[in-house]
Amino acid sequence: MTTGVILETRDILLYLGEKRILDNLSLEFWPGHVHAVVGPNGAGKSTLADTIMGLSGYTKFEGDILFEGKSLKGLPIDERARKGITLAWQEPARYEGLTVESFINAGAKEKSREASSRALDLVGLNPDEYLERAVDRTLSGGERKRIELASILTMEPKLVMMDEPDSGIDVEALEKIFDAIQFLKKKGTTVLLITHSATVLEKADHAFLICCGQLVKKGPVDKIMQYFGEKCIPCDHKNEPDPEQINE
Ligand SMILES: Nc1ncnc2c1ncn2[C@@H]1O[C@H](COP(=O)(O)OP(=O)(O)OP(=O)(O)O)[C@@H](O)[C@H]1O
Ligand SMILES: [Mg+2]
Repeated sequence: MTTGVILETRDILLYLGEKRILDNLSLEFWPGHVHAVVGPNGAGKSTLADTIMGLSGYTKFEGDILFEGKSLKGLPIDERARKGITLAWQEPARYEGLTVESFINAGAKEKSREASSRALDLVGLNPDEYLERAVDRTLSGGERKRIELASILTMEPKLVMMDEPDSGIDVEALEKIFDAIQFLKKKGTTVLLITHSATVLEKADHAFLICCGQLVKKGPVDKIMQYFGEKCIPCDHKNEPDPEQINE
């Protein structure tokens, strides 16, 4: 295992249909850090997370993904989850008929009403109001997103990928999500924030900027934020990765 690296993508080359979506993408994530992957719409951010998680349709690629020094290639999603890898979706799923409590308990390390309640409190949802609710269309998108995060908190994972944690979330709830990120960091969890929002990017320790499935730049958040603001907004997709410039 490479010292001080929990997750590494090595030259990932992934096509969806005819289109090259991830283009020799090599990234290293350090344990216990909050990393961000930032980039414009269509850059390949969600695809990267789906590929790391091993979702069906994202398992055929060149290159490798190493978690704690071991290749994840060929491992199904549930085995990756057992290794401690989780993904909070850009648009969380609905589970008709399942209560919030059962949903949280399904993956929780400590399966108790107290543990589920603590997690709901952390994401700013009142357990008395939500534990018995169904994880279906009666919950708003923002509520589902926070319930999904509460569930992840109780799993005590090693790596949490959060795909656009701010999408559909109001300002007050977003503060709760940021609190949850700090909570995870204190527990030593590695967090990967996928975003194109400066507010979310600010919460990271280190960032990767990707465009057209390629790494454009990596380094401290302020440098990446400045570069992203100056060169990528508006995005004209003319930023080609410059190997001399990648390390900041
Ligand atoms: N099954 C598919 N076939 C062909 N192209 C696809 C497929 N799925 C995704 N894509 C394309 O891959 C590119 C990357 O998509 P992805 O969802 O990873 O982007 P993203 O960086 O997460 O963008 P956003 O900020 O909008 O969420 C997009 O151009 C998308 O249209
Ligand atoms: Mg996306």
